[in-house]
Amino acid sequence: MSDSNLIDGRAIAAEVHESTGARVAALRERGVVPGLVFIRVGEDPASQVYVGMKERMSAKLGIQSTTHVLAGDAPEAELLALIEKLNADAAVHGILVQAPLPRHIDGARVYSAVAPGKDVDGFHPVNMGKLVLGDPSGFVPCTPAGVHELLVRSGVPVAGAEVVVLGRGNIVGKPLAALLMQKAPHADATVTVCHSRSRDIAAHCRRADILVAAMGVAEFVKADMVKKGAVVIDVGVNRVDDPAAPKGYRLVGDIDFAAIRPVAGRITPNPGGVGPMTIAMLLQNTVRSAEAATAARA
Ligand SMILES: NC(=O)c1ccc[n+]([C@@H]2O[C@H](COP(=O)([O-])OP(=O)(O)OC[C@H]3O[C@@H](n4cnc5c(N)ncnc54)[C@H](OP(=O)(O)O)[C@@H]3O)[C@@H](O)[C@H]2O)c1
Repeated sequence: MSDSNLIDGRAIAAEVHESTGARVAALRERGVVPGLVFIRVGEDPASQVYVGMKERMSAKLGIQSTTHVLAGDAPEAELLALIEKLNADAAVHGILVQAPLPRHIDGARVYSAVAPGKDVDGFHPVNMGKLVLGDPSGFVPCTPAGVHELLVRSGVPVAGAEVVVLGRGNIVGKPLAALLMQKAPHADATVTVCHSRSRDIAAHCRRADILVAAMGVAEFVKADMVKKGAVVIDVGVNRVDDPAAPKGYRLVGDIDFAAIRPVAGRITPNPGGVGPMTIAMLLQNTVRSAEAATAARA
């Protein structure tokens, strides 16, 4: 089969990085180096990988990144004190506290402690509120922003489309629904959000012009749940045991990609779809923050 119906997240992320890189260069010419700080708590292997990828891409684009690693049993107060220090540091334009946090730490309190203007992950209640209200001055969480950007740059019509989002998590499903339902260019969709209490999810899915799976359930969406020609976006990242794989497991998405691809009009590969876009939107948010701070000082 040709690659014609694939939405290539790596290529689209590269386009976003190119424009972000140019904005970094313009800031540097004015003596401003965009600064992004990552905070990890504990040694979660997936978090190490994710932060490592973000560090490498930051360096490539000329963004100065720094990573603070706190012990897995570090008290919440230590994390909050670090955030307070970074909030006050003019060289820091973005602060990202990598999830998951250990159980003894209250994530909501931590995300609320990041200054909204440096909350490039978009999780602060002020930024979530702005998203819901349609105020573009806030930061949109990176994965939903990346899904939206994929749709727009792939020329998928969103206005008036029936969008079904599987999952109402605070990081993906909920903010994505808010983004796509806005009365705004490249939005104006009719959005249905399904979750673990939804009845007949398959029937909802079959109505979708655009189906976004963000549940964290391996290959939940089957081919008979997809309308012919629908656009299918797979956000899920799930570990499934595979004794034949070098690490004993492999990563799969929330959709049965091989079976759905012939039915779908457009479809994201996974990996290589949403993942690269999440990083691209993070770095774009960081540069926006640096530009705003520079404009405010001028
Ligand atoms: N590619 C990326 O860059 C990226 C970034 C972030 C997340 N992800 C992935 O996206 C997925 C979702 O992440 P998240 O943080 O949004 O997860 P989450 O907060 O745990 O939310 C999962 C949602 O899926 C729903 N759900 C779970 N099982 C279900 C089932 N069997 N039937 C119907 N609904 C079900 C849950 O329903 P309830 O609300 O009723 O519990 C919940 O709303 C994960 O696989 C995660 O790894 C990928």
